[in-house]
Amino acid sequence: MIRVFENCSLRERNSFGIEGRAARLLEFEHADELLKIFRGGGPGPWYVLGGGNNILFTGDYAGTLLHPAGRGIRVTAEAGDRVEVRAEAGTEWDELVAWAVREGLWGIENLSLIPGTVGAAPVQNIGAYGCEVKETIRSVEMCSTDTCNMVILNGEHCGFGYRESVFKHALRGRAVITAVTFSLSRTPRPRVDYGDLARETERLGGPTLRNIREAVCAIRRSKLPDPAAMGNAGSFFRNPTVDRSVAEELRARYPDMPVYPAEEEGKIKLAAGWMIDRAGMKGHIDGRVGVHDRQALVLVNRGGATGGEVLDLAREVQRAVRERFGVEIDMEVNIL
Ligand code: EPU
Repeated sequence: MIRVFENCSLRERNSFGIEGRAARLLEFEHADELLKIFRGGGPGPWYVLGGGNNILFTGDYAGTLLHPAGRGIRVTAEAGDRVEVRAEAGTEWDELVAWAVREGLWGIENLSLIPGTVGAAPVQNIGAYGCEVKETIRSVEMCSTDTCNMVILNGEHCGFGYRESVFKHALRGRAVITAVTFSLSRTPRPRVDYGDLARETERLGGPTLRNIREAVCAIRRSKLPDPAAMGNAGSFFRNPTVDRSVAEELRARYPDMPVYPAEEEGKIKLAAGWMIDRAGMKGHIDGRVGVHDRQALVLVNRGGATGGEVLDLAREVQRAVRERFGVEIDMEVNIL
């Protein structure tokens, strides 16, 4: 079923809790409804709005927001210890993780409690605690808005990288994701080598699927603000990748600076949160917006802020890091 909302309030549709309006918002459940819209000439300028967890509205949106509302999870194939699971784009991401854990299926437990929908997961290749969703994505179903046909893209063709995918680049504005199929495992594959996860999992009694989920949830709750209590979009910035020589120079000046291997040869990933913290911006408050006091990567709406105020603070944070470390940190959140 398609539902159309004219002059739609966005406040309840973005985790920052920013007030704004969309000229039109169109909720669809099935891929064929979407095809019909595009085959009938399209909705005009459009943007896909999932759970609104990675977006900052800086004003009203004059076009049409497309919201995938179809939900549902089902097993589509089983072979050996592999189980293929298909979830509709509108399914809550954490509902899928909780389901997989209940079913004894390994692969996405480290991604527990990440806010957002299944359809958004491949777009930014969500990741946490040493895992990225790309490791489990078998295929992505999408409506190609160029050809007005459904296309199934295999995981290998999604251009996945750190918080990157083809959907942010070549397919930006040309595809609407309608479902994702995951390949999960019945064989235990605990991954607890990241940060506090091993300790927290041990405390709960060892690396079972349930304990890992519980440990990740506990760590996230202790560090990240609950959007229901204080508007935010998780990490506002990406961890930057720099040349090895730049990282070495910085390490000479700041021996305790965290560094991580990057996907690209000769590059090193730095911790944006650490740099923001060391640049003195953690806990910084500017009127109705602020940098979270327990995780410097997160910008918060302290109540009634506009998107413009958040953006101004983001630029100030970027400037502080640039001045202190000579490093550019990019925004991870989509600015609309
Ligand atoms: N750090 C500080 N101060 C801070 C924040 C971090 O010193 O305020 C230091 C930490 O002590 C650590 C390093 O910086 O040495 C990295 O921090 P952390 O382990 O918290 O991970 P992250 O790189 O800050 C990433 C993801 C998170 C994800 C966590 C856990 C990005 C941009 N963010 O954060 O993702 O939950 O790892 O795996 O890659 C999100 O995308 O919304 C998100 C929350």
